[in-house]
Amino acid sequence: MILWFSGTGNSRFVAERLSILLGQRMTELRPSVTATPLTLPEDDTAVYWVFPVYSWGVPPYIRSVIRDINLDIQSDQALVHHLILTCGDDCGLTAEMWRKDVRSRGWQDGNAYSVIMPNNYVCMTGFDVDPKALEEKKLAEAPARIKTIADELRGYSVAQGRRDDIVRGSFAWIKTKVIYPWFVRYAMSPKPFHYTKECISCGKCAATCPLRNISMQPDTQPDASGRTRKHPVWCRDCAGCLGCYHICPRHAVMYGKSTRKKGQYFNPFV
Ligand SMILES: Cc1cc2nc3c(=O)[nH]c(=O)nc-3n(C[C@H](O)[C@H](O)[C@H](O)COP(=O)(O)O)c2cc1C
Repeated sequence: MILWFSGTGNSRFVAERLSILLGQRMTELRPSVTATPLTLPEDDTAVYWVFPVYSWGVPPYIRSVIRDINLDIQSDQALVHHLILTCGDDCGLTAEMWRKDVRSRGWQDGNAYSVIMPNNYVCMTGFDVDPKALEEKKLAEAPARIKTIADELRGYSVAQGRRDDIVRGSFAWIKTKVIYPWFVRYAMSPKPFHYTKECISCGKCAATCPLRNISMQPDTQPDASGRTRKHPVWCRDCAGCLGCYHICPRHAVMYGKSTRKKGQYFNPFV
């Protein structure tokens, strides 16, 4: 079983490819997935977690899923959990964080991999999407990387022991142990999200939100043409994935003032 989460399609792209190469069913990690037990096929021997790196750590939403999900498995079914991360550049100690969370559920952790994909983080000064040529290079190189990972996972045996094939980057400890907790606390609030006058009320932001955290609410006043239009309202259950920002056809979704001159990216293959 492949358990996946994605804001701008990169992790979904990886999950879809792995699903074909490994012959595994996919389940999206929507909030409802923790509401009822998730039944795994009896012959499943592995769970593959596919999601993006957030600030050199596991997205807080995914940590809550790992904590709360109820995997309905046979008493004699031995499952190994593998990790496939997508990142723009590097992951720090994200795999170690995930292993700790997985082990705290009493589950067995296996291999961990990273796949470098186009960058989607734009909310702070100095961060933007990749230049087009780099975006295209990353997208062109990803399928071969995913195939290598699938080949290795297909041949996995517990006797081999676990393996990390992760781009950690420099200062990994500081990034994950110092910056990640700061980022989660101070830089992930949904409050700065708003729409500008460019908004055409298409509702794509609400439709793309993996947590269904955006609702299209009618304005209190009709516009100049006498029509009452709907606009997005962000609620509290935000994963910070930026799907709403990147999908907007008018670049009308903003995060505070920092995204005004930033680019947009959404995986073109999903
Ligand atoms: C809140 C946030 C934090 C991010 N932090 C990192 C990071 O620490 N390292 C990195 O390489 N990429 C980082 N990224 C980029 C994403 O991990 C990367 O673009 C990923 O492939 C997006 O996956 P998705 O399209 O499935 O959402 C971050 C993106 C977001 C939205």
